[in-house]
Amino acid sequence: MTEFTLDDLMFKPGLMKGQRILITGGGTGLGKVMAEACVLLGADVVIWGRRGEVVAATADEINEAHAAASGGRCAGMATDIRVPEAIHDAMDEVWAGGAPTGLVNNAAGNFISRTEDLSPRGFDAIANIVFRGSFNVTLDAGKRWLAEGRHASVVSILTTWVWHGGPFTVPSAMSKAGLNVMTQSLAVEWGNRGIRFNAIAPGPFPTEGAWARLNPGSTEATSGERKTADPTIPLGRNGEMRELANLAVYLLDPGSAYVNGQTIAIDGGGHLRGGGGFARLSEWGDAEWEAARNSIKASNEKDRAQRTV
Ligand code: HXC
Repeated sequence: MTEFTLDDLMFKPGLMKGQRILITGGGTGLGKVMAEACVLLGADVVIWGRRGEVVAATADEINEAHAAASGGRCAGMATDIRVPEAIHDAMDEVWAGGAPTGLVNNAAGNFISRTEDLSPRGFDAIANIVFRGSFNVTLDAGKRWLAEGRHASVVSILTTWVWHGGPFTVPSAMSKAGLNVMTQSLAVEWGNRGIRFNAIAPGPFPTEGAWARLNPGSTEATSGERKTADPTIPLGRNGEMRELANLAVYLLDPGSAYVNGQTIAIDGGGHLRGGGGFARLSEWGDAEWEAARNSIKASNEKDRAQRTV
């Protein structure tokens, strides 16, 4: 099922005409959402995924819904980004159809586990996709852009864990933190040759793939009320796919050409909730505030009384 019509996005029709975007992990979840938004705005999109039948079905679905009206197009390619040679061969094929103007490093793997229960292979299962895979895709495309003197925008999908850690998801948090530093480093190293690097740190945008591995056994996050409502987020809800798509399109488009080296959180303020240590006070009502005010007042009066004796 596709997600959008043009009314869901904040951009003019045809904004991305002439752009060619490569999205890793584009067959499902957030990658699919971003692919659809780009096609809807007229871009030519290539989605990579490990399972050829999944990316092919997604490309068909997006084309059927939008290609005729938008002039955009989606193509799927089976590519395992854990294998550098596979990346190189697939990139040859992408380039044969035209050099991309943008790359979205979206492919990821994750599961919750106590870190002491992980094996080296368990760590590698995540790091080989997120950390090494995303770097190798970026490197392969980057070398070609630099050799041809082309401009491009690279957007990596991270998480807010890159700032405060991710207990019980250490291989993912470490890998995404590495991509955060890649974003900052290459923004400087390749920025003067027209290649921009930015990243998106999404909070909760429920997708089947992520939620099955991060909330095993629970369906509440992807079905029913919890799909939208989330009391742990200052804005009280999960993200909407169109909100993420709008940010991705903004960062890919030359309209954001002066934005470089930034990681932008889109999480309803969730990662700031611990700020100052008083975030829990947002749960207080009038009675608690009245009691606190009276208690503070009584304590001040006691101090004053002691000072006057
Ligand atoms: C501990 C585990 C494990 C678990 C696997 N392993 N699952 N260890 N707890 N739950 C270990 C295995 O024991 C094995 O090590 C090693 O990992 C490899 O196991 P495989 O089954 O061969 O793994 P693999 O086939 O590579 O698949 C793992 C995977 C898979 C790549 C992570 O789940 C996958 O395909 N995921 C893609 C989709 C996905 O994860 N989406 C969620 C992304 S969400 P040993 O030593 O025993 O051999 C995300 C951020 C969300 O990134 C942010 C939300 C706010």
